[in-house]
Amino acid sequence: MFKLKHLSVTFTLLVGVTAEFVVLERRDNPPPGFSRLGPPAEDDILSLRLALPSRNILGLHDAVYEISTPGNIRYGQYLTRDEIAQFVAPAPETVSKVTSWLSNNNLTAVPITPASEWITVNMMVSQANALLAANFSTFRNDETNQTVLRTLSYSIPSTLKTSIDWVHPTTSFPEATGSIPPTFVNKTSAPIAGLLRVSRSFMEFRPLRPKKTANVFGVSGFDNASANKQDLQTFLQVYRPDMNPNTTFDSISVDGGVNNPAGADVFSAPEIQYAVGLTTGVQVTFILTGNLSNDLRTEMLDQATHLLSLENPPQTILNTAGFVESGLTPEIANSLCNVYAQLAARGVSYIVETGGFGAGVDCRSFDPPFPASCPFVTAVGATEFDNDEPAETAYIGSGGGFSNFFSRPRYQDTAVSAYLKATNNVHNTAFNVSGRAVPDVSAISSVPFIALQEIFDNSKSTAYSAAIFASIVSLLTNERISAGKSPLGFLNPLIYANPSAFSDVKTGSNTLQCGIPAFNATSGWDAVTGFGSPSYPKLKEILDKV
Ligand SMILES: *[C@@H]1O[C@H](CO)[C@@H](O)[C@H](O)[C@H]1NC(C)=O
Ligand SMILES: *[C@@H]1O[C@H](CO)[C@@H](O)[C@H](O)[C@H]1NC(C)=O
Ligand SMILES: *[C@@H]1O[C@H](CO)[C@@H](O)[C@H](O)[C@H]1NC(C)=O
Ligand SMILES: *[C@@H]1O[C@H](CO)[C@@H](O)[C@H](O)[C@H]1NC(C)=O
Ligand SMILES: *[C@@H]1O[C@H](CO)[C@@H](O)[C@H](O)[C@H]1NC(C)=O
Ligand SMILES: *[C@@H]1O[C@H](CO)[C@@H](O)[C@H](O)[C@H]1NC(C)=O
Ligand SMILES: *[C@@H]1O[C@H](CO)[C@@H](O)[C@H](O)[C@H]1NC(C)=O
Ligand SMILES: *[C@@H]1O[C@H](CO)[C@@H](O)[C@H](O)[C@H]1NC(C)=O
Ligand SMILES: *[C@@H]1O[C@H](CO)[C@@H](O)[C@H](O)[C@H]1NC(C)=O
Repeated sequence: MFKLKHLSVTFTLLVGVTAEFVVLERRDNPPPGFSRLGPPAEDDILSLRLALPSRNILGLHDAVYEISTPGNIRYGQYLTRDEIAQFVAPAPETVSKVTSWLSNNNLTAVPITPASEWITVNMMVSQANALLAANFSTFRNDETNQTVLRTLSYSIPSTLKTSIDWVHPTTSFPEATGSIPPTFVNKTSAPIAGLLRVSRSFMEFRPLRPKKTANVFGVSGFDNASANKQDLQTFLQVYRPDMNPNTTFDSISVDGGVNNPAGADVFSAPEIQYAVGLTTGVQVTFILTGNLSNDLRTEMLDQATHLLSLENPPQTILNTAGFVESGLTPEIANSLCNVYAQLAARGVSYIVETGGFGAGVDCRSFDPPFPASCPFVTAVGATEFDNDEPAETAYIGSGGGFSNFFSRPRYQDTAVSAYLKATNNVHNTAFNVSGRAVPDVSAISSVPFIALQEIFDNSKSTAYSAAIFASIVSLLTNERISAGKSPLGFLNPLIYANPSAFSDVKTGSNTLQCGIPAFNATSGWDAVTGFGSPSYPKLKEILDKV
């Protein structure tokens, strides 16, 4: 009797599940390197982020291209949060369906973007398992022993099928493989060579000084990254003796991030030091993102949505964190890219590195970097000096290639088609010729800096390249704002219309990580150095006219 009843209940439940729920995402196993330890406590709290479908995301993309293209009648007319909401807000019936589903379950959603296309809901594990037909478990990263709560599959009621795009974090694991690797750093006892190299490279724009603080330059730190102000002061004393060595940065906190100088390591030091040291007069703000979520994907999402919610986000943002595309799902890449598109619509220049993986992490696949591959950010690759000559050549580790997630934006059609045609790359069938191509530009990657009160030299990183390029952009933005003009916003349409503002890098190449040659630097745009190194005076001349 009991057995029969039990069976029949199970049967009804199974029918119910298949009839009323649709699976949104599933995977058979956790990724390699993760073990399932068991169920978490039923009352552990999960902070889930739900992506609701935007009304007209393509409309937003079109608007971003218009307001970012010099010569367009709308150039520089950035959108307000309300104007952006017209494109990205979910339809009212979507919002009411989702909120009543949640409130029927005694849950409250909090919007995390101004237009509410992202909402967050805190709930207990037991509630999440019931609500999403999920099985949240504790998984351990076997290398670091860190644990995370994830599920291998989750579903939503079929009545909400068109009302929820996806839920995070669920089936996406904080894999380390695929993250852009930390740069190697070498301490040196002889800083002089580095110093000379730097001053030669920066001679062109170093004397230019903004007269007043007109703009903010945001430098991103993730995973509790911190910077040491004493190292910064030493850097300024050594490399910018003309500046007040007390010049420093302020901060924005996301997910509980705090600057803890004792925990500062070598990774944020060069970015902060070049940002402050190159942009005299510009306010530098360290965007400190804490590690509450223990997952860089979540931190990047939280950072971007936080910036979007600010009344006045920094006009220039540097972000040197990222992944190769294979380390992400298309859902999270698309969602993040759409938040970057909204920042572009607000007039923010979001500048990222292409990472040190070359064309891919292994021998098998071309694997481009993200967020570089998002069409609404500016991706910076790396150069180095050619045998100590002033000429720059491509850095062999410079990330570059073609996206598998994002198709080629129109602004780069001419340049990229010409490259594909001229080089007739032997790997043409191994990478996605129709994808968004990176990088857009490049800059020198070998610069000395101070960390832990010592000079580090002979390290190369696209992060340093991106910091240098972003510094130039924030100086130009300062000049424009001081002259009563709009900030630069999304840069790529301007860049692709003005290749002559860059010093073309024509030598060198990048490789797949195992050493197989991948892309050559060539005359004109290429998939290792983009258009090459920026010239401040030429960019300034062009910008004076738009
Ligand atoms: C749910 O996960 C636990 C481990 O956390 C596992 O023991 C159990 O078999 C899973 N249940 C189902 C139905 O997959
Ligand atoms: C919601 O809360 C009310 C009052 O505490 C309770 O009676 C009801 O069972 C709860 N509903 C759910 C789905 O948890
Ligand atoms: C992980 O835990 C194991 C077993 O407790 C231990 O031997 C190992 O050193 C730990 N690894 C790390 C990176 O903490
Ligand atoms: C710097 O360190 C890396 C990694 O330890 C090493 O491969 C490289 O040869 C070093 N470079 C110099 C110039 O010392
Ligand atoms: C820098 O700060 C120190 C300590 O507050 C002060 O003594 C010094 O005068 C400052 N230097 C300049 C150039 O303002
Ligand atoms: C790391 O970040 C968390 C917030 O996520 C914060 O509470 C904590 O104090 C930080 N730890 C350190 C050592 O900075
Ligand atoms: C956050 O970072 C701090 C130090 O930076 C570390 O001690 C802590 O374990 C981290 N927390 C998580 C959840 O990873
Ligand atoms: C190539 O990129 C396009 C978008 O640009 C995408 O639709 C397609 O799936 C990609 N192909 C592969 C093999 O990844
Ligand atoms: C790169 O250039 C070299 C020398 O010109 C050439 O042999 C090689 O085929 C090129 N590689 C690719 C992938 O186009």
